[in-house]
Amino acid sequence: MGRVSYVNGSYCDHEKSKVHIEDRGYQFADGVYEVFAVLGKRIVDYDGHLKRLFRSLDEIKISSPIAKESYLYVIRNLIRKNNIVDGLIYLQVTRGVAERDFKFPKKIKPSLVITAKKFSINEYYCKFNKGIKVKITRDLRWKRVDIKTLNLLPPVLAKQFAVENGCDEAWMMDDNGYITEGSSSNAWILIKDTLITTPATNSILKGITRTSLIQALKKKKIKLSEERFSLEDIKKADEAFITSATQFVMPVIKIDNIKIGKGKIGRYAHIFKDAYMEAIQLR
Ligand code: PDD
Repeated sequence: MGRVSYVNGSYCDHEKSKVHIEDRGYQFADGVYEVFAVLGKRIVDYDGHLKRLFRSLDEIKISSPIAKESYLYVIRNLIRKNNIVDGLIYLQVTRGVAERDFKFPKKIKPSLVITAKKFSINEYYCKFNKGIKVKITRDLRWKRVDIKTLNLLPPVLAKQFAVENGCDEAWMMDDNGYITEGSSSNAWILIKDTLITTPATNSILKGITRTSLIQALKKKKIKLSEERFSLEDIKKADEAFITSATQFVMPVIKIDNIKIGKGKIGRYAHIFKDAYMEAIQLR
């Protein structure tokens, strides 16, 4: 068999995997998800992602379709069945299938889909060495983006806007002119030797990569400030970064028309990436 996915208790041929047309994920984006990286067959930051999954489920009142302990078993099976050394796991839980009705249906069984795909760590390093470009756009999302829900239309449109403008990621700006985060990543700038990232309130998703990097940098005694930053701060930035489970630590070399540093990745990019990579190897 080729690629294998997990759908509600069965391992299926990925090409033939199906969910019902009245799944509430499809009709209402009524569900939550997680993305885990796999490096050298090991799941990166597993505990952090699972904990956040359970928090997200709790916040939108969906009960877990399987026992907490079973997720690791299923994900490991998928890694094995898909021969993954380096890859990505996508896990989605929706409220389940029911006739369309806004209120929660009674006696509904949540749906669980988990997919796995290969990922090239060499491509990551190539991209890292070049750095990425970022486009600024408005943050049009709802007020609970701390929950990792399937409600992703604003970030989809933001990312598309970035791509259409020759950029790799969009940084979203709130109504007060502060950057919240990337369309699918957390945002960071470095001014002199202080690393700045938006505080983890309801206005951003508290990235698992973000948390791991903060822990790793504390050990290295790097100055960190969790505070909001604006376009004026970006103009003063010596370096900039994004973090996520799929991009790890990725340097940013241009934001709108502002060249960061000299338009090349800086010294700290390596320090932060190495600190993060070292930290996740130890887990
Ligand atoms: N996105 N902020 C947003 C809005 C995100 O969608 C993500 C991750 C992050 C970083 O979180 P973490 O470090 O836990 O991956 C921050 C994933 C990768 C995605 O939607 O594909």
